[in-house]
Amino acid sequence: MSEKKRIKGHLHIRYEAEKRTASELLQRSQDFYTMMDRRRTIREFEKTPIDRSVLEQIIRTAGTAPSGAHKQPWTFCLISDPEIKKKIREAAEEEEKISYTSRMTDTWKNDLKPLGTDWEKPFLEEAPYLIVVFKQSYGMENGEKVQHYYVNESVGIACGFLIAAIHQAGLATVTHTPSPMNFLSQILNRPSHEKPFLLLPVGYPKENTYVPDIERKKLEDFMISY
Ligand SMILES: Cc1cc2nc3c(=O)[nH]c(=O)nc-3n(C[C@H](O)[C@H](O)[C@H](O)COP(=O)(O)O)c2cc1C
Repeated sequence: MSEKKRIKGHLHIRYEAEKRTASELLQRSQDFYTMMDRRRTIREFEKTPIDRSVLEQIIRTAGTAPSGAHKQPWTFCLISDPEIKKKIREAAEEEEKISYTSRMTDTWKNDLKPLGTDWEKPFLEEAPYLIVVFKQSYGMENGEKVQHYYVNESVGIACGFLIAAIHQAGLATVTHTPSPMNFLSQILNRPSHEKPFLLLPVGYPKENTYVPDIERKKLEDFMISY
């Protein structure tokens, strides 16, 4: 049991840090980078089933993210029901068809060309799971509103943890943002203080799939040392 102490009137537990040598720091940071650098957005999935407990563990990892005043302003909906996936695909494609034909600017459509995306989203039915992440603008406890802080930052960080956990487990995802996303609230029957944030199909990548041949910025192009 961790040693406990009251600080400013509130209970704290002793943090048991894992001690690392300088060379371990370097090795571990390099290994993690190499693992994360292999992550790619995948848009074609195998239908192979995956144990639900794997997905639960991945979502548990997302829930370890830091959040403004520790309000944890997120809800993760885990969907495997084919009927619900079908409804989500139909609604997403309806919105995406309008977006691609009239809502997106030419610049936006040109920027998407190298990625080869269009309004069709078969991955929403092919992937064995969909995770729909909702941000909670405020919380509700016993019928009372609870203030939340830095909701976008908090949920964005939790999604980063989620995507890293999906990749680390050996699975793949696409960070999908059909726009507008209100249909997800209706299909999943979420309360009005929850707003859809991201839609992530999760599964094994299709055996013979290809990803866009794009480059990542070099460190010196996005880091400034002072
Ligand atoms: C906020 C956000 C929204 C995205 N929306 C979509 C999307 O709606 N459809 C899609 O196919 N990819 C989407 N992507 C994936 C990006 O296109 C992809 O991350 C980018 O091209 C880099 O490729 P990589 O993830 O393989 O490194 C989105 C990514 C982010 C971070």
